Amino acid sequence: MFLFRIKSELSSLKVSFIFFLPLLAFLIKNSMKNIVLITGATSGIGLACAKKFAGNGHDLIITGRRNDRLNKISEQLEQDHSVKVLTLNFDVRDNGAVKNALTNLPEEWSKIDILINNAGLAVGMSTVQNGEIDDWERMIDTNIKGLLYVTRAVLPGMTERRKGHVINIGSVAGKEVYPFGNVYCATKHAVDALTKGIRIDTVKQGIKVTQIAPGAVETEFSVVRFKGDENRAHSIYKGFEPLHPEDIATVAYFATTLPAHANINDLVIMPTAQASATILNKE
Ligand SMILES: NC(=O)c1ccc[n+]([C@@H]2O[C@H](COP(=O)([O-])OP(=O)(O)OC[C@H]3O[C@@H](n4cnc5c(N)ncnc54)[C@H](OP(=O)(O)O)[C@@H]3O)[C@@H](O)[C@H]2O)c1
Repeated sequence: MFLFRIKSELSSLKVSFIFFLPLLAFLIKNSMKNIVLITGATSGIGLACAKKFAGNGHDLIITGRRNDRLNKISEQLEQDHSVKVLTLNFDVRDNGAVKNALTNLPEEWSKIDILINNAGLAVGMSTVQNGEIDDWERMIDTNIKGLLYVTRAVLPGMTERRKGHVINIGSVAGKEVYPFGNVYCATKHAVDALTKGIRIDTVKQGIKVTQIAPGAVETEFSVVRFKGDENRAHSIYKGFEPLHPEDIATVAYFATTLPAHANINDLVIMPTAQASATILNKE
């Protein structure tokens, strides 16, 4: 009789365990789900980050100017990874558009956990004495002011909740200055300084702030820099294996997986064949 009672209690425990296990897994998965905002997710590093974070079950807000690409990417990510994706189509240089998009988010999207400030570009390569003012303005407005506009819109929510992680995609150009890189290098030095500044400004609220500074990564970056000259762009990556955008996504994701007490402040990553901004082991 006694044995029979134990047996029947164990089997009812088994039934409730089988019943509750999927519910428990669902609750755990959802409690670990973050909302990740990635600027410039229509190509290169931003797109690779979107795939990486979606692949790990996080919901995404992805931004860029090319709306057709954003929509296709969003559809694909939702289909492949069963996550939710919100697309926001704005130019980071337009503070009105940035504010409008990010301060009027639907309630379910308003608590951004991770911001990846990735949108950026280099335009042209020349000496300062021969520089194109329009190129300078595009770089300064996108890489410095755009990053600031987005951060200004997102950071107050993070500091209020005392939870958040800002990841800025800097560059080796923010650590060194190379020939003909003057203004692009200046904008990435600004990203380096701003990362340190945001870290200082939010340390009391426990916000994590990380800069990832890559060397050469093969993306659309050089096509943009050389204004559509594909041959010149491809020649940059000839004779060595550059970084792939997925390598940057891997380290960005890794930075977000550290325990609450640990923050990566600054991470420089280069192809193995690259020792500095100008030293490359090309075959
Ligand atoms: N590739 C490299 O070797 C390298 C090395 C170090 C650092 N980085 C940095 O990595 C970041 C990503 O570059 P990438 O290599 O992935 O180049 P990419 O393939 O050209 O991607 C740049 C992304 O930024 C977005 N973007 C550019 N201007 C924008 C604007 N005004 N408003 C909104 N979005 C804008 C683009 O989207 P839309 O065109 O759709 O707007 C695109 O999604 C940049 O900050 C770059 O400086 C790159």
